[in-house]
Amino acid sequence: MSRLAAGVCLVTAHEPPLSADGPRGEDVGMTATAFMSVSLDPPLVLVSLREGSRMDDLLAEQPLWAVSLLADHQLQVAGRFSMKGRISDRLLFADLPCVRGEVSGAQVLSGALATLECRTENRVEAGDHTLVIGRVLTASLPAPDAQPLTYFRGRYRHLGQ
Ligand SMILES: Cc1cc2nc3c(=O)[nH]c(=O)nc-3n(C[C@H](O)[C@H](O)[C@H](O)COP(=O)(O)O)c2cc1C
Repeated sequence: MSRLAAGVCLVTAHEPPLSADGPRGEDVGMTATAFMSVSLDPPLVLVSLREGSRMDDLLAEQPLWAVSLLADHQLQVAGRFSMKGRISDRLLFADLPCVRGEVSGAQVLSGALATLECRTENRVEAGDHTLVIGRVLTASLPAPDAQPLTYFRGRYRHLGQ
């Protein structure tokens, strides 16, 4: 599968606070290449999440999430949101140009090629991953003419012009 060239995405969601008077909720992000379009009518997309990852645990609890399709200048974003064993993503979002999606409450990247906000329709356990199928609720094109960040044979690549 390393020979399948893929676009790179940032999947995000907002973890709600545990209680109204407790600490505020937290933004969570995860770099993903296992993302695809599923259906046009209704508009459905799919992301495959490693079972037990923080994003898999969060989307088991709440149905709203977002996807930012990364542009090639966002390579550092992909790097920071794929680090293993991190405890909190709070500082990772601190200096990123983002806006909060109006429907999902998740952070979406201002410089992304495209962004989607989704609501989970189905979850399918598949081996050591969960396939999360989401209905697209909003779509926008912050930087539609930027070049995509891609991943091929274990390395980030810039698409040749
Ligand atoms: C290029 C790239 C693509 C990735 N694609 C996926 C993916 O599609 N699904 C997934 O679950 N993890 C994927 N990962 C791994 C996650 O980004 C990584 O495991 C996660 O951010 C670490 O958090 P965790 O400790 O909660 O798993 C990918 C990593 C990289 C570098």
